[in-house]
Amino acid sequence: LSLRPQDYIREHIRTVPDWPAAGVQFRDITPLLQNPRVFRVLIDQFVHRYFDMRPDVVAGLDARGFIIGSVLAYELNVGFVPIRKKGKLPFTTVEETYELEYGSATVELHTDAVKPGDRVLLIDDLIATGGTMMAGKRLLEKLGATVIEGAAIVDLPELGGSAKLHAAGLPLYTLVDFE
Ligand code: PRP
Ligand code: ADE
Repeated sequence: LSLRPQDYIREHIRTVPDWPAAGVQFRDITPLLQNPRVFRVLIDQFVHRYFDMRPDVVAGLDARGFIIGSVLAYELNVGFVPIRKKGKLPFTTVEETYELEYGSATVELHTDAVKPGDRVLLIDDLIATGGTMMAGKRLLEKLGATVIEGAAIVDLPELGGSAKLHAAGLPLYTLVDFE
């Protein structure tokens, strides 16, 4: 491999202009998942980072955070818990509502998903305004867990989410920035 892993990963993220709305440059990770060599390089980046940190649990954010989060949990030999959009989880939940560009969204977590004191790795594919990851952190903290780090493939630093999360005391690990 002649490219750095981050550059190899970046080359397999597709930009779709004006989707889902005019002016949005959508960063599409499906080409990255589709290519088994790049998918392995991607997961290995996260495995190398988290093997020694030994989280107790990996929590993935709906829906693209499930894809990488579950594989990572399997490789780290720890459990995986889903943080889902409202109305999908069947057991008792805690919930958190956050603001989107237009309107708001609510995410939920099962009340038995983590235990007080658990050290949790929170993962998604991308950080934009940071609202989704912030809501995930709050949910885990409501149950007494500690989020040791937030991880994502892509950061969009111009949208301010990573700075906001950092200011809220959440360490972050991301592989690729897009303007
Ligand atoms: C996208 C992305 C993150 C979130 C980031 O998910 O996968 O979860 O937006 O945005 P934020 O930092 O501004 O909160 P989306 O809501 O499109 O849902 P999906 O994964 O179900 O497609
Ligand atoms: N979620 C929020 N903004 C996004 C973008 N530009 N590309 C992909 N997912 C996103």
